[in-house]
Amino acid sequence: MKPLDIIVTGELNVDIILNSINGFPEMGKEILAGSLDMTLGSSSAIFAGNLSSLGSKVAFIGKIGRDGFSSTVLESLQKLGVDTSHIIRSDVFNTGATIVLNYGNDRAMVTYPGAMEDLKAADIDLRFLSNARHLHFSSVFLQPGIRPSLPWLFAQAKSMGLTTSLDPQWDPEEKWEINAAELFPYLDVFMPNMAEFLNITSSETLEKGIEKIKNLAPGLMLVIKDGTNGAYAWNGSRLLHQPSFLNENPVDCIGAGDSFNAGFIRKFTSGASLEESLEYGAITGAVSTTCAGGTGAFADMKKAGEFARELFNKTL
Ligand SMILES: Nc1ncnc2c1ncn2[C@@H]1O[C@H](COP(=O)(O)OP(=O)(O)O)[C@@H](O)[C@H]1O
Ligand SMILES: [Mg+2]
Repeated sequence: MKPLDIIVTGELNVDIILNSINGFPEMGKEILAGSLDMTLGSSSAIFAGNLSSLGSKVAFIGKIGRDGFSSTVLESLQKLGVDTSHIIRSDVFNTGATIVLNYGNDRAMVTYPGAMEDLKAADIDLRFLSNARHLHFSSVFLQPGIRPSLPWLFAQAKSMGLTTSLDPQWDPEEKWEINAAELFPYLDVFMPNMAEFLNITSSETLEKGIEKIKNLAPGLMLVIKDGTNGAYAWNGSRLLHQPSFLNENPVDCIGAGDSFNAGFIRKFTSGASLEESLEYGAITGAVSTTCAGGTGAFADMKKAGEFARELFNKTL
């Protein structure tokens, strides 16, 4: 028996969300926001937090600064039950932050990556990695420090008997260089959304993208999220489609993909079938849209369970 179920490696930042803003910013002028929320941001942290809320034993490896924002990151993860003992403090860089100007249906964001860019292979404690059954990595393109070492990291994890998964997330530079030939042989589950998958495989359709993966990494399982259309999975020989449990009135869709991942990996690491894991991912993705932010819906699991039952007739 290993003490941990899943180790998540990835980016960490806070989201500073300005609401009810009186107009649009202009150079040389000042406008007011009606309210401010500061929350745990980052896809990796939302995934880790929600996976912990769903009942898995989760630890995080990532990098933050020594500033005030770092306390928000640590305290938020700890409150969600995530082991933060291997989150590293940079003496050079500040904690990453995203400033969100929230205008109802749309938002403008500015991100300072900070310490997340400085996470390196040398920061990973391989002995700690051996404490877990599964390694998940998220947000490849936001972490140039560790990106070239990902094939090495995943090879280490596989050699220690861990299963592995990776969600690439969006590439702000839209270059989509992921070193698939070296990385994919050490990966069990690849979890992009549809746009990311088509960009990474330079393909126009899902089927053409799968053809390319088949030649590159025959054993790789694909889980491709497709918003309100649900998700697809390729198990090496068969393409499955899981419709979404549509929430007609989502509060917001922040972290829906990460919550889907959390549900899927929760089941995958419990030995469930691909069909069952996919359905659970779709349920947790949908539940995530019932509350503001990425982790709000799972902060109270009793309430999350009631949502799942009342809205989608499913148990969590
Ligand atoms: N309005 C919605 N109602 C129900 N489920 C949703 C909704 N939007 C997204 N989801 C679920 O969340 C999953 C992830 O969403 P998606 O937007 O594709 O991922 P990402 O956030 O990574 O871009 C979808 O596969 C779907 O199951
Ligand atoms: Mg995503």
